[in-house]
Amino acid sequence: MLTPPGPDSGLVELLNFLREADGFVSGEALGVRMGLSRAGVWKRLRRLKTMGYLIEGEPRRGYRLVAAPDKLLAEEILHRLDTNILRGPIYHFDTTVSTNDMAKILGTQGAVEGTLVVAETQSGGRGRLGRSWHSPPGMGLYASLLLRPPLPPSELPQITLSSAVSVVRALTRAVGFTPGIKWPNDLIFKGKKLGGILTEMETESDQIRYLVVGLGLNINNPGFPQELAGTATSLFREEGRLFARVPLLQAWLEEFESLYLRFLDRGFAEILEEWKQHSVTLGRYVAVRQGTRHLEGLALEVAADGALLLETARGEVMKVTSGEITLESPGILSGSEPTDQVGFNK
Ligand code: BTN
Repeated sequence: MLTPPGPDSGLVELLNFLREADGFVSGEALGVRMGLSRAGVWKRLRRLKTMGYLIEGEPRRGYRLVAAPDKLLAEEILHRLDTNILRGPIYHFDTTVSTNDMAKILGTQGAVEGTLVVAETQSGGRGRLGRSWHSPPGMGLYASLLLRPPLPPSELPQITLSSAVSVVRALTRAVGFTPGIKWPNDLIFKGKKLGGILTEMETESDQIRYLVVGLGLNINNPGFPQELAGTATSLFREEGRLFARVPLLQAWLEEFESLYLRFLDRGFAEILEEWKQHSVTLGRYVAVRQGTRHLEGLALEVAADGALLLETARGEVMKVTSGEITLESPGILSGSEPTDQVGFNK
């Protein structure tokens, strides 16, 4: 088992007193409120400082919280997080290979629904279709949420689409920025990718045993490596300012929970309507690549099960359940038939 995660309740208590004080508070007053000696208070203050909290100390005035670290710490994420079921435990890593990998390990070990794995950087961040996910330190959100929905695996695509809606809602509410969604769940702004979601599951006798929803969002990236420069963007690049990541993560957890509960209660239909409102895929000519297979056509509709319905040049409607979509303009289409239809259900 991994080391039990934060938050440390003693530190949360001290942080709350410092936040409430809204100015200096004496070491003695802190000690009385927490039932600790001055040395005990000092020990906790020192711990907070090593975590990156900026705390000012003045001889006769006491201590003042100046700033919280720009890190995705459990102590920060849980502070004023308005969720009921998605509230951790939270595992924070300065670096890990992939938060999805870590969440899957925890899922196998029996971790509860709502377990969250976050990292400042990933050395092997993974994207959909076997690609890697660029994860520079401190610039993006790399977060994986563990769920245990009482659903069959066939409903995974619907949860995947719902998770994209939750990110659109979160960005709109927290920072007034509304990206589009490219089927199934890429977050797109002006044709460039702002974020993506990798959902992975483990099944057991036709039930989902656990599900991991891994969100990667480019937030404060000033730029991208050459191979991504033409296709990726970040909030910083679009808005010209830096964004605090914790409020964005909190907004995502809140919006995700609200949609997840609605999905379990009332199904996918309403969420699909919202997905369509943000779609940048429907009504466009698209190319679909799945490994070496290739399809082209007009993106007609998303079906109730989350599949993309594509009308080919021959007027046939194909059902696409996986693959990489490229948005095309009509002139670019070759008008040819799919080179290979294996993997696509008609
Ligand atoms: C995509 O290809 O669009 C999905 C990208 C998902 C990246 C996130 S970052 C956090 C989590 N951990 C991973 O290794 N991948 C996901």
